[in-house]
Amino acid sequence: MQFMSTKAAFITGITGQDGSYLAEHLLDLGYEVHGLIRRVAFEQPEARLARILKIKDRLHLHSGSLESYPSLFQIFAKQKFDECYHLAAQSFVAESFADGFSTMSTNINGTHYLLAALRELQPKCRFYFAGSSEMFGKVHETPQRETTIFHPRSPYGVSKVAGYYLTMNYREAYNLFAANGILFNHEGPRRGVEFVTRKITTGVARIARGQSKELRLGNLEARRDWGDSRDYVRAMYLMLQQETSDDFVIATGETHSVREFCDLAFREAGLDYRDFVKEDEMFYRPAEVDLLVGDATKAHKILGWKPERTFPQLVSEMVQADLARLG
Ligand code: GDD
Repeated sequence: MQFMSTKAAFITGITGQDGSYLAEHLLDLGYEVHGLIRRVAFEQPEARLARILKIKDRLHLHSGSLESYPSLFQIFAKQKFDECYHLAAQSFVAESFADGFSTMSTNINGTHYLLAALRELQPKCRFYFAGSSEMFGKVHETPQRETTIFHPRSPYGVSKVAGYYLTMNYREAYNLFAANGILFNHEGPRRGVEFVTRKITTGVARIARGQSKELRLGNLEARRDWGDSRDYVRAMYLMLQQETSDDFVIATGETHSVREFCDLAFREAGLDYRDFVKEDEMFYRPAEVDLLVGDATKAHKILGWKPERTFPQLVSEMVQADLARLG
């Protein structure tokens, strides 16, 4: 039986993969769910609100921007929230090399504006910051845990380290309930097509349907700890239900290479990745994160959280969803 609540939650990044799954999870728990939306999104709902179209009528969407403190201030002045999940960011690592300045500005200032507006208007609202395993970057120990030193390898990683410490600072300096989730890569059928897992599964589907002959990728040897977004949004929620705010690694504890992901994904469609995947330097990064694998023992013990979906299930579901989409 699920606990029914009348709490109100505010989600930045509600139109993204995690935001849309989190919104569904909170609605199921009886929450009143609010989200931050760019004004232009209302003009192109089919494209920009695709992931939340089915639940849109049950949501309260507020127009505003992370780049504008006044727009956030206005929202918090009008509406009271119990919980704020800050998921919005420029989250594509490769893009952060192309335009590090925009990434820094959106990710760091956006987080700071939110924290400052909450402190000013709603100091009792609980805050979740979407930290990232990219903060570990050139890893100092394996597996990575809450105590592992950060060594970011991209402007994106640097921006997340800044957001992490801003969150911690508001917790320590102003007594805000402010939690950091250090989430390792998490995927699913709603993943954006620029990220490697979805790029592979859409590529497999196109090749299987005769719409494409090859798939060009970058570094096939990079290793990631890939979990399922639907498992990870449960962890975000749990972090805000604790007595005190803290930092938690959320990971599966398994690591796989991009090559292994390709192998499994092509096999799901009855194909051999070696016949189709071409390595292309264009997709290499100036500095790479070679290996990520997380130790989520603290989350298991304190949050009672465990991932429910396995890596093969995730790959299979993503490929099948893309095959179905192409008909
Ligand atoms: N995107 C992409 N495209 N990545 C490729 C490609 C390609 O063609 N070929 C190889 N890769 C490699 C990248 O070099 C990287 O090592 C790995 O695949 C994963 O890349 P992404 O899927 O783009 O994700 P990410 O690990 O850089 O970042 C994601 O996970 C972080 C958590 O660790 C993002 O979701 C971040 O926002 C998130 O914080």
